[in-house]
Amino acid sequence: MAETDRTAPAVDFVGGAVGYRFRSQAGRSHALLKATGVSPTRSLHVIDATAGLGRDAFLLASMGATVTLIERVPEVHALLSDALEAARNESDEFAAIIGRMTLLHGDARALLPTMQADVITIDPMHPPRTKTALVKQEMRLLRDLVGTDPDVGDLLAAALSADCGRVVLKWPLRAASPQASRKPSHQIAGKTVRYDVFRRPQRPTESSPRA
Ligand SMILES: C[S@@+](CC[C@H](N)C(=O)[O-])C[C@H]1O[C@@H](n2cnc3c(N)ncnc32)[C@H](O)[C@@H]1O
Repeated sequence: MAETDRTAPAVDFVGGAVGYRFRSQAGRSHALLKATGVSPTRSLHVIDATAGLGRDAFLLASMGATVTLIERVPEVHALLSDALEAARNESDEFAAIIGRMTLLHGDARALLPTMQADVITIDPMHPPRTKTALVKQEMRLLRDLVGTDPDVGDLLAAALSADCGRVVLKWPLRAASPQASRKPSHQIAGKTVRYDVFRRPQRPTESSPRA
């Protein structure tokens, strides 16, 4: 039997944790859905500006969203591309989900100003935690490939000025937020991460009272 390359993270939408979450429908109560507003009854277009292993993007697409994934590291982009193709060939059900996912190669800081979406999600490589045992194997392998993403402030700035109704930043629960031009509208906290949600400020309408 051929040995698996365990220097690369596994990207697999059909088996493993992602496939289990899909089949068991455990993802239906995931905080990311609340943060983004994605649900099977709304057909939103989401840009996942930090595609990584594609887990978040697959969850969103499996809940009916159309998702554009952006990944800048060539090796990670290639792993994702292969995994999308494998899942497309798995079954009609998977093919329908993968049909809502479009993978782009590039730096989201450059691409976002040319794009439009209902929601942009950002999940950069977070600063290493001291309790390294808590970081899952796949994330450790991804970090070996990618390093950290020290330019998250620039990415958040690009997202906040893009043509989009909502920006969602996934960030360690207790870490200080990156610099941003405005404060989050609200936060959704999980056990170890939180989602900072930035809604587009309302533009004054003709009928709004003037100050
Ligand atoms: C923590 S991982 C994302 C994990 C992903 N949310 C998932 O569900 O698998 C971060 C990824 O974002 C990518 N990334 C970071 N900044 C980026 C940028 N400006 N443009 C494109 N990709 C970026 C990194 O290369 C890395 O693969």
